[in-house]
Amino acid sequence: MKESKRHISREIGLEIGHLLGKGLFKLDHLHYGLWKKGLEPEILNLHIAQEEYCKFIISHIPAEAKSILDVGCGAGAFSKRLVDLGYKVDCVCPTEYQNKLVEQRLGKSSEVFKCKFEEVQTGKKYDMIMFCESFQYIKLDQVIDKASSLLNSAGYMLICDFFKKQTDVGSLKGGHKLEKFMGIITQSPFRIIEDIDITAETAPNMDILDRATKEVMIPIMNAGERFLHSRHPIILKLIKWKYRKKLAKAEDKYLKGKRTGRDFMEYKTYRFFLCRKDK
Ligand SMILES: C[S@@+](CC[C@H](N)C(=O)[O-])C[C@H]1O[C@@H](n2cnc3c(N)ncnc32)[C@H](O)[C@@H]1O
Repeated sequence: MKESKRHISREIGLEIGHLLGKGLFKLDHLHYGLWKKGLEPEILNLHIAQEEYCKFIISHIPAEAKSILDVGCGAGAFSKRLVDLGYKVDCVCPTEYQNKLVEQRLGKSSEVFKCKFEEVQTGKKYDMIMFCESFQYIKLDQVIDKASSLLNSAGYMLICDFFKKQTDVGSLKGGHKLEKFMGIITQSPFRIIEDIDITAETAPNMDILDRATKEVMIPIMNAGERFLHSRHPIILKLIKWKYRKKLAKAEDKYLKGKRTGRDFMEYKTYRFFLCRKDK
């Protein structure tokens, strides 16, 4: 699939995810939840786990950081939280739908760069650039130069996202290769000063997603198929033929694929990195 098409699908996926999450489960964030011991991993608790994730990030923001660039800020709920805590926050958001939400939330005190991080043009400098589950979307070969140009001396890059441990398994996409990221950071003017592995606390999100797919989404689609079959059997046949490859791929991914928390722990590593730029 071409990158532009992939980008549109990804953005529409995030929009649908946000609408469903907010409408049905009061979720304001687009990131995973952090599942502390004792919290039952089920969808109705996801807002609590997401709140734990926010608290975890806030508790790791260095004391010197007063101005923050929130890259891939989603619907802006976390940026607003940081503003309320007294930080000066600007945002980067390449999605039109999310931009509107962010601007409504933050008002005029924050600037929203309506483009990809790689394309941000400004003379401003920040104490910290934050990537909360948005790092995986940024081009690795551009991130260091761009971040360096936007940071004050001894500024920070906070990255909280998942990475691939080894070659991707088909059904669990996403994330840069950890080894590649480490290679790039080692050659860069940044030093990793904190590295925390939160894979075990984030893996339950995959179990929840897997269950929701198998117990809700697929039965709904099957019911829709039966409906179409009873009313418009020829149209159904045409749709199934036209999209046969995509349907087969989706079946492989969502029904036969390895998409549980255990698989996540095997193939991915969810990391918090705090990196400081050399002076
Ligand atoms: C999984 S969401 C995370 C949103 C938010 N940080 C949160 O924690 O709720 C990923 C975000 O990255 C944004 N994004 C995707 N590609 C990007 C890019 N190249 N530059 C900046 N943001 C990007 C998406 O629009 C989306 O807002």
